[in-house]
Amino acid sequence: MKSIQWSRREFLRAAGAVGAAASVWNAGALERVEAATQSVANRTAEDVAQDEFFWREIQLAFKLDRTLINLNNGFTCPAPRVALESVWRYMDMVNMLPVHYQGPIARNVETIRLRMAAEFGCDPDEMALTRGASESLQIVQNGIDLKAGDEVITTEQDYPRMLTTWDQRMRREGITVTRVQFPVPATQDFLYKMFEQAVTPRTKVFHFTHITNLTAQLFPVQRLSRLARSKGIVTIVDGAHALGHFPFKLRDLECDAYGVSLHKWLLAPIGNGCLYVRKDSIPKFWPLQAAPEQQDDDIRKFEAIGTHPWAIRAALGESLAFHQAIGAERKAARLRYLTLRWANALKANPRIKILTDLSEPAQAWGVAAVNIEGIDVRALARFMMNNYRIVVVPLVGGAPPNSVFDYQALRVSPNVYTTLEEIDTFVTAMEEAAKGGVPETPDPVPAYPADVTV
Ligand SMILES: Cc1ncc(COP(=O)(O)O)c(C=O)c1O
Repeated sequence: MKSIQWSRREFLRAAGAVGAAASVWNAGALERVEAATQSVANRTAEDVAQDEFFWREIQLAFKLDRTLINLNNGFTCPAPRVALESVWRYMDMVNMLPVHYQGPIARNVETIRLRMAAEFGCDPDEMALTRGASESLQIVQNGIDLKAGDEVITTEQDYPRMLTTWDQRMRREGITVTRVQFPVPATQDFLYKMFEQAVTPRTKVFHFTHITNLTAQLFPVQRLSRLARSKGIVTIVDGAHALGHFPFKLRDLECDAYGVSLHKWLLAPIGNGCLYVRKDSIPKFWPLQAAPEQQDDDIRKFEAIGTHPWAIRAALGESLAFHQAIGAERKAARLRYLTLRWANALKANPRIKILTDLSEPAQAWGVAAVNIEGIDVRALARFMMNNYRIVVVPLVGGAPPNSVFDYQALRVSPNVYTTLEEIDTFVTAMEEAAKGGVPETPDPVPAYPADVTV
């Protein structure tokens, strides 16, 4: 199917179900962002990244709790008002007479599939809309035919839920799961060779993250996909944190399947995800919930989950418009600018270690990990909250089927609405902790992965 670029107005008209009053109500916020973007159109993304007047407009587009400093956007990001308001709007509409309004909204959501495919570089018939990366990835993990003895190669630092999914297939069907380990940060060559050396004649699947949810380690997706394809191996990529975070096109990755949480960096209302499956690979995966045989090669077979809140999916259109209004390059450059601001301020401190590769060319944007020698990160996270109302997640390696890693770190993930003052407060808190230590606390912040999900 041909990709199309739709203007926001055309989309709203096509979506049909949008009341005139409501669209006026929401249009203002997006138009302010679009106007701000127009005014910086001739400048580079790196230049705009440092323009606080521009980012002030973006900050105002959110309804936040500024009594707290949210540096855990890797969990789930707040959606901009314009998207959240549209959830209520579509909910109201469906609720008036569900049998009458649900069908039309479901059909209109096809426009979002078109726009998602155009923005992220794939055919619309390769783009399934789901409720998050867990659902997307479990569809393909559980939907691929494997028999006892077939091998999946994944890593110790993949996401716990996804590792648990493979673990369950191992217990249930006797497949073999090989989990390879890597130091952080690791080079792209190291990661490539790690997979290459692990391949055996029984390897049927590679499963890895585009960037990890821990230190944001970037993987060489295209190279690994090519390696896999040359050996008849299927590649499943966990893109929970990557799509909408930094720019790339799905088709360029050359993987078979790619699962995303759109309520992370695309800033969609909670309950939005997508699953890209390369066209010729669609028949390789059974849907989690049964679909008729005629749909074997239809991407929509992965979406047949029965009655669900279409309002949440319809509101994805507003988050996508918001993302496009900022511009993918500008957003990535700002996230990197914020990360480099705290990292550059702290890196000279001999007690502070950054576990993410922040060198050029860029391999990290809005997520990075850091620790202070000799300080338990759970107590450090409690200090951040108690003394500065900073929300960060402490990472402490667990035991299988959870992720396994031998470092401790705070994961720091600002967002497009984060102010420089908030970043600088984090720097102050880290310097104070490195200098004076933090109290041993009987009440540490629960750590990932054993106690919390991030
Ligand atoms: C790497 C990774 N994969 C998968 C998931 C699951 O995403 P969700 O809980 O949004 O389905 C997450 C969530 O944090 C993640 O970080």
